[in-house]
Amino acid sequence: MKLKNDFLWGGSIAAHQVEGAWDEDGKGPAIMDFVTAGEYGQARGIHESIQADVRYPSHTGIDFYHRYPEDIKLLAGMGINALRISIDWSRIYPQGDDSTPNKAGIEFYQNLVDELLKYKIKPIVTLYHFEMPINLVRKYGSWENKKVIEYYLRFCETMFQALKGRVTHWVTFNEMNHIDPQSEASDIFTYIIAGLKYSELTNKKQTLANIGYNMTLASCAAVRLGHKIDKHNEIGCVFGIEPVYAVNSDPDNVLTAFKQMDRDFYQIDAMCNKKFPQYKLDEYKDQGINLAVSAEDAQIFKEGSLDFIGMNYYASSVANYAGASEKGSALFGGLQNTFLPVSKWGWTIDPVGLRYLLNYTYRKYGLPIMITENGLGAVDEISADGRIQDPYRIAYLSKHIQEMKKAIEIDQVNCIGYLTWGPIDLVSATTGQMSKRYGFIYVDIDDQGQGTAKRLKKDSYYWYQQVIASNGTEIQYDSK
Ligand code: BG6
Repeated sequence: MKLKNDFLWGGSIAAHQVEGAWDEDGKGPAIMDFVTAGEYGQARGIHESIQADVRYPSHTGIDFYHRYPEDIKLLAGMGINALRISIDWSRIYPQGDDSTPNKAGIEFYQNLVDELLKYKIKPIVTLYHFEMPINLVRKYGSWENKKVIEYYLRFCETMFQALKGRVTHWVTFNEMNHIDPQSEASDIFTYIIAGLKYSELTNKKQTLANIGYNMTLASCAAVRLGHKIDKHNEIGCVFGIEPVYAVNSDPDNVLTAFKQMDRDFYQIDAMCNKKFPQYKLDEYKDQGINLAVSAEDAQIFKEGSLDFIGMNYYASSVANYAGASEKGSALFGGLQNTFLPVSKWGWTIDPVGLRYLLNYTYRKYGLPIMITENGLGAVDEISADGRIQDPYRIAYLSKHIQEMKKAIEIDQVNCIGYLTWGPIDLVSATTGQMSKRYGFIYVDIDDQGQGTAKRLKKDSYYWYQQVIASNGTEIQYDSK
């Protein structure tokens, strides 16, 4: 298998990390609007109400809401043929349970999509990327309440209809798999996904299992709905998964690693195998967690299976093991891998892990896979002549593209696209920083929100342009 001519080369962004304009044109407050900036090792604050003199990075983002024509023109200049955007639910239904949608919000996304189509860039639209109206958390208790599924589906229907004929590629959810009753979670991870702080949940296991189940059900119901509205719709769900390796070949450690990695797949099983997995229900039962699949739900799982799997890939980790002296500090709490380097933010850099994960996932489901995020968060410096040299980013991306190509060309994995995270610098989700940059385009805003907001092309901009123009054959980097 070779990279197809219509292989998708592009990037991914999320509304709350770029748009800003958090209270403009009828937008309601959403979960991330209450989150302050943090940094590596210092968690973001989660506030009950907006406080004066506190910086909430989503309020201003990179001002994409007003500057998107300029930004898309720059992105188009690299030759990308796909951009994954998200729709902020709180722009469409400001309170989530409003009786009618906000016209200005719908128009904004119609115009944004039209701007992409003008440059022949395929819009890939995520319907939930950490952007829930806060009212749905406070009034209904977030995803634990089935009423929220109804409101989500109404929002999906509004957008499927509003963008019908313009958008064919959709993503129901971004990274719901981090909701996991089996492991301790940080407040920011449960908050990002469901607007709830882990430390404040009373019945943690049961609540997280309910949320994981309801989101899975909501995704399947959205797929079914999207197919009904337009048979051309291709609908996927995005997962943030990482390979989990065993520390050594001790079979006990290998099994533990397998179990830790497998935990992230029960929702994909449900979405691809037309059935919520019985093994998960049994496992829950053994742990005193009650979950039952109603006949109506079973029908939804049956009729709402995915067209493709979206894969966000950044890092791998090593599973904890009995007697480990070190504490897990890898991305999702696993141990660091002594064979691999880490980014400044402690994320393990493992290009081969991408090939491994592509193989593992494709062999399990046989569905097309789109790499929906990949990238290196790094600090960039502007030199005196205005140039931004970022060979570290090019090295990271080119190594990952090489491994992806091996998965496609040697291992016959049907990978349909490669989207980098944040092709234009944006606000970091886990830290709220601007200085954790992923872009090919630099945005002159600092961690305090200060700067000209000017956009500048980095060296990697020209490199990605060359990669795309050659459909992935020229990935080397000439630093001159
Ligand atoms: C992914 C999310 O998990 O990781 C993005 O989908 C996020 O929203 C990205 O931005 C990178 O994480 P961070 O914390 O570096 O922004």
